Amino acid sequence: MNLTIKDFANLVGDEILSLPKECVDLMEHTNLEYERMSKEEQENILLTILKEIDRKEWERNNLFGIEKWEKGWEYNLNLFRECNYKIDSLYPKYVLNCNVDKIILRLRGEYIKTKDNLFEVKWYTIYRHWFFKKFLSEQDHIYEFGCGSCYNIPILVKLFPEKIIYGLDWAESSINILKEMQNRYKWKLEKKLFDMFNPDYNYEIKPNSAILTMGGLEQLGNNFESFLNYICASEARICVHMEPLVEEYDDTTFLGYVAKKFHKKRNYVGNFVGYIEKNKKNKILKVQKVHFGSRYQDSYCYVVWIPNYY
Ligand SMILES: C[S@@+](CC[C@H](N)C(=O)[O-])C[C@H]1O[C@@H](n2cnc3c(N)ncnc32)[C@H](O)[C@@H]1O
Repeated sequence: MNLTIKDFANLVGDEILSLPKECVDLMEHTNLEYERMSKEEQENILLTILKEIDRKEWERNNLFGIEKWEKGWEYNLNLFRECNYKIDSLYPKYVLNCNVDKIILRLRGEYIKTKDNLFEVKWYTIYRHWFFKKFLSEQDHIYEFGCGSCYNIPILVKLFPEKIIYGLDWAESSINILKEMQNRYKWKLEKKLFDMFNPDYNYEIKPNSAILTMGGLEQLGNNFESFLNYICASEARICVHMEPLVEEYDDTTFLGYVAKKFHKKRNYVGNFVGYIEKNKKNKILKVQKVHFGSRYQDSYCYVVWIPNYY
C-alpha cells in the first residue's frame, strides 16, 4: 500500500485542493509504501513496546535535562563542520537512530510496517513543508523556541526567504549551530539562548510574529505555564505548536493506552491546550490529532492559537 496525497491531507486535517504546491511536489516524488500487519503481529509489537516502557529508565528530571541536549547538539555541530555545513548532518541522532526499529509506525490506530526505515523522516519533511506554509505564511518574523539542531531553519528559509527567522534554545551548542549556519549561508537569522522554564521578559517578540515549537513544549513536562504566560504577555500574532497532545489519546484503545503510558513515563508536556483555553483572551484556531507516529506516540499533532485575541 502507499500513503497517498489524499491520506496525507486527511491525516493533517486539510483538503487535497488546499495543500501547498511544495508539499504536493514532495509527495509526488516520495515513496511512502507500507504494509498492514496481522492481528497477531500487532499484538506482539504492543507487548514488546509495553515491556520496553516498563523496563526503561525513561523518567526524567527536567532540571538536569539540559546536559543531554548540550551533548546531542554538540555532536550535530561537529558533524555539521566535518560535512562542510551540509544540512543533512543536522538530523538529530534520535531521528536516524538505527538501534530502534524505524519500520514499525503508527497509522490510524494500528501498527504498520514500512519498506524504508526513513519513511518517518520523509513523511516529516513533507509534513514540515505543509505545516510551515499553512500556518506561518502571513507573519514577518518566525521564532522557533527549542530549535535544537536547527534542522527546521533551512526549510523555513527556503519557504520564506524574505522573513527573519529566530532560533532559540537553552543549549549553547544549538545556538552555536545557528551562528555557524548564519556565517556559512548568510541567511536572515537571529539567535538567542533562552530558557522556557524561566522566560526572559526583557526579550521582546517583534510585532507581526509567529511563535513556533516543534517538540519544544513536549520537553517542559508540567512546567509549561511560565512560557505560555510569557507568550501571552508578548506581541505574538499567532502561535503554532507541533507537539504530542496527551489529552487526545484515547486510552480505551490499545495504541492510545500505550502512547499515553509512554508520554507519562517520559514526563512529556501536560495538557497545555487546556491551559491556553482557560485564558478567555486567547482564541484557539485549530487542534488536530494526527493519527500517525513512531512506534511510541503520535508526535505530529498540532495546535494553532492567537494570544490576546479578545
Ligand atoms: C525534541 S527537541 C526538538 C528540537 C527541534 N525543535 C526539532 O524539531 O528537531 C527539544 C528541544 O527543546 C529544547 N529545550 C528543552 N527544554 C528547554 C527549555 N527549558 N528552554 C529552552 N529550550 C528547551 C532542547 O534543548 C531541544 O533542543
